[in-house]
Amino acid sequence: MTAIATSALFRPLRLGTMELPNRIVMAPMTRTFAPDGLPGEANAAYYRRRAEGGVGLILSEGTVIDRPASRNEPGIPFFHGDAALSGWKQVIDAVHGAGGRMGPQIWHTGSVSGMSGWEPEAVIESPSGLLAPDQPRGVAMSEEAIADTVAAFAKAAAAARSLGFDTVELHGAHGYLVDQFFWSGTNHRTDRYGGTSIRERSRFAGEVVAAIRSAVGPDFPLILRVSQWKQQDYAARLAETPDLMTDWLLPLVEAGANVLHCSQRRFWEPEFPDIDGENGLNFAGWAKKLTGATTISVGSVGLSGDFMAAFGGESSTSVGLDRLVSRMERDEFDLIAVGRALISDPRWAAKVRAGDANGLKGFEPAALGELV
Ligand SMILES: Cc1cc2nc3c(=O)[nH]c(=O)nc-3n(C[C@H](O)[C@H](O)[C@H](O)COP(=O)(O)O)c2cc1C
Repeated sequence: MTAIATSALFRPLRLGTMELPNRIVMAPMTRTFAPDGLPGEANAAYYRRRAEGGVGLILSEGTVIDRPASRNEPGIPFFHGDAALSGWKQVIDAVHGAGGRMGPQIWHTGSVSGMSGWEPEAVIESPSGLLAPDQPRGVAMSEEAIADTVAAFAKAAAAARSLGFDTVELHGAHGYLVDQFFWSGTNHRTDRYGGTSIRERSRFAGEVVAAIRSAVGPDFPLILRVSQWKQQDYAARLAETPDLMTDWLLPLVEAGANVLHCSQRRFWEPEFPDIDGENGLNFAGWAKKLTGATTISVGSVGLSGDFMAAFGGESSTSVGLDRLVSRMERDEFDLIAVGRALISDPRWAAKVRAGDANGLKGFEPAALGELV
């Protein structure tokens, strides 16, 4: 790997009020190192190291909105309340001090259980009281609960802007609350938040996006993270065709999401190979083509195995970036998020830029045990 070969990753990009120096994004990654839900000095130093290491845009770990059962692990940080928000202020000041850019990923875990077996004291909520098809968990949300949740997302986004963050990402992926509305397997509602079409089941997300947009103003970049796959069902798909993908995503872009963060486990996998072949556009490529939005891709960049394997305890070795670079040279998508490689090594981006292929590390699950 040489510095010239990766130059497509190091082009600047302007998104509304945010100027990014390069195309590398730190993927949002839950670390559960926020005791009592409060981020502090250790979290600020962790993110600061990624800014110093040349990441263009840092997305925080998922951080939850002000709803009674919005998180599923006790070490997940809040994004509400004076104590947590002053911790986040410390984080963004540290990142800005190192010349970085950052947005929090705002989240509600819906009816997904955490890994540790911990349960929130409050009643767990989701569109239809389901974790997955035929798996009841928690209660179906009332219209009042939905309205309060929409408002809580907007309030968190407004707080992000007033603390000085450069952007905000709404977590609409991976089978958590927003995605539970999208998915027919978990949304059986008969009111205006349900329906047989993906367009109808996107109404909740559309209301959240519109409420965030009006809370943060017209120019503040708003990222929406989406995925076809669910942790409840890796094979689930919300959009089987480009037309359905347009029905799903275009109204959300029109509601005010100007960046779509298209989550895949392996970025090189084609989204609709029947249409454009085995080397066809990936999810972020299709989302960009169909909606005109700026898109972020993600999934196993620089590593041999995917992240679900990592949760099963598998290590991954470092692999070359040729496939990524050629897609970015074609502007198939605009930005690339990097997850585990940046958990192992805060200097990953700087090493890629310098062409230091031998310095790039793989990923060992043991790295999850501390904030390196
Ligand atoms: C430890 C860990 C925690 C994660 N937490 C989140 C999260 O809070 N929000 C989210 O959207 N994705 C989360 N993910 C998924 C990552 O953002 C990313 O999509 C995934 O790791 C694939 O990228 P990678 O192959 O480069 O690691 C997490 C992944 C890991 C490994």
